[in-house]
This record gives sequence, structure tokens and C-alpha cells, in this order.
Amino acid sequence: MTTASDGRDDRDAGGETAGVPAHVAVIMDGNGRWAKARGLPRTEGHRRGMETVRRIIRHASRRGIGHLTLYSFSSENWRRPAEEVGFLMGLLKYFIRRDLAELHTENVHITVIGERADLTPDIAALLAEAEALTRDNTGLHLVIAFNYGSRDEIVRAARILAERVARGELAPEAIDRDMVSAALFTGGIPDPDLVIRTSGEQRLSNFLMWQAAYSELVFSSVLWPDFDEAAFDAAIDEYNGRERRFGGVDAVQGAK
Ligand code: IPE
Ligand code: IPE
Ligand code: MG
Repeated sequence: MTTASDGRDDRDAGGETAGVPAHVAVIMDGNGRWAKARGLPRTEGHRRGMETVRRIIRHASRRGIGHLTLYSFSSENWRRPAEEVGFLMGLLKYFIRRDLAELHTENVHITVIGERADLTPDIAALLAEAEALTRDNTGLHLVIAFNYGSRDEIVRAARILAERVARGELAPEAIDRDMVSAALFTGGIPDPDLVIRTSGEQRLSNFLMWQAAYSELVFSSVLWPDFDEAAFDAAIDEYNGRERRFGGVDAVQGAK
């Protein structure tokens, strides 16, 4: 807990809290294996995984994390059986309908990253509603990566910049890293300091590949439905023991 006695958390003006990374991103993996181990359908793993999502959002908020990005559905997850894809779509709707008001009360600011065009109009409308309702909130910034894929995101950014060049607004040699960053879905959001992947898998699976260039990676063997506050804190502790050098020789001060 980082909440001060007067009820405010102890974030400084820059939105950072001592002892915790400013931006934590999570590849929430292992729902299917959790269910299989119990003889349950994969969908039951997803349902339990949603309860973990609720717990971890509240915990991250209490710990004073600035930004929490959750990989919820990848651009490759459409390859799964239609029944499972349909269930995951339904789960997103259920989550927003059930939790939006409470998250808003808790001052959570919600942003959704990923391709919206492939989503049904009812889901797209719910996501827009969540973003509009919470846009001025100043607490935890919850970034939901849904129908998100890093390669598609980079292709889209290239097109945005190419269109500006074609219109004569931008010279090709003026394109720099900041401009590419700004053209990503995550434009304006700082890069993740820490990327956690649960379930023992050790890969990015098309998640934040540009943004995670210098992120610390922590792999937890815990399956997502079992990933609790203690497991989250253990990942933060592991991060706090790391030395970030960003290509230099010495640890970078303040980059914990
Ligand atoms: C993560 O759990 C949830 C999504 C990818 C939507 P999985 O469904 O990938 O679970 P495993 O990896 O099959 O155990
Ligand atoms: C990554 O998990 C996507 C999400 C957690 C939403 P996957 O389970 O889809 O990744 P792979 O297929 O094992 O790489
Ligand atoms: Mg998986």
C-alpha cells in the first residue's frame, strides 16, 4: 500500500510512485492450461482469468502503478475455435458492463489499444464509452490491449506517416523515433518499464515489440487465473533488483 494517511496516494507530480515501476504490462497467459488441469473447458479458465484481472487492477491501483497494460486478445487469437473467440468477446462486454462504473469511481482512466475495425459495433461502442467516461480520471491508467498486435500496429503507424508524406506535410528525413512512437496505438503512453508474462512461456507473442525495447522482462510460472497480489508483488520485487543500463555502462538513476 502506498496510500498516504490523508487518503491520497504518494505519487509525485510526474505520476510516479517510489518503489514501483511507472508502467507495468502483462501478458496474461495460461487460462487454457489452468482449466485443462482441472478437467474444465478452456472457457472456464478465461472466466477465472477475468476475476484475476479485477484483482490485479485494484492491486496495481493501490500500489500506485501509473499505467497497467493488459494483453487481453491478440490479433492472432482469431485463430482459435469460434466458440472460444465468441466467449472472449462476451467476456470483454461483461467486464465493461459490470466494472466500468466502479472503475470510474476509483478514478481509473481506461484506454483501449488494438484494431477496432474488426470488432462488432456493440463492442466498439462499449470501448468508446469506457474511454469517454474515464478520460479525465487521474488515477491508474488502465490500457486494455484488445485485438492488439505489434506488427499490425507498426504497419499502421508506417501508413499514417506515409500519408502525411504523400500529402506533402512531412519530409521523410524528418521522421524520427518520437514520431513513430506517437503514431502507435500507445502514442502518449510511456514505454513499459516491466513486462510480466505468466504461465512459464517466455516470448512476446507480438506484444509491444517497439515499446518493450528496454523493458525488463519477468517470467512467472504461475498460470494467470492463479496470479494473485503476492505473485504481482514478487514480479515487482524482481524488477526492483534489476539494473537498467539502456546501452550505457552504469545503471541509470531513477530507472528502477
Ligand atoms: C491467455 O490464456 C488468454 C488469452 C490468450 C486470451 P490462454 O488461453 O492462452 O491459455 P493457454 O496458453 O492455452 O494455457
Ligand atoms: C498471448 O498469448 C496473447 C494474450 C495473452 C492475449 P497466446 O497464448 O495467444 O500466445 P502464444 O500463441 O502461446 O504465443
Ligand atoms: Mg496461451
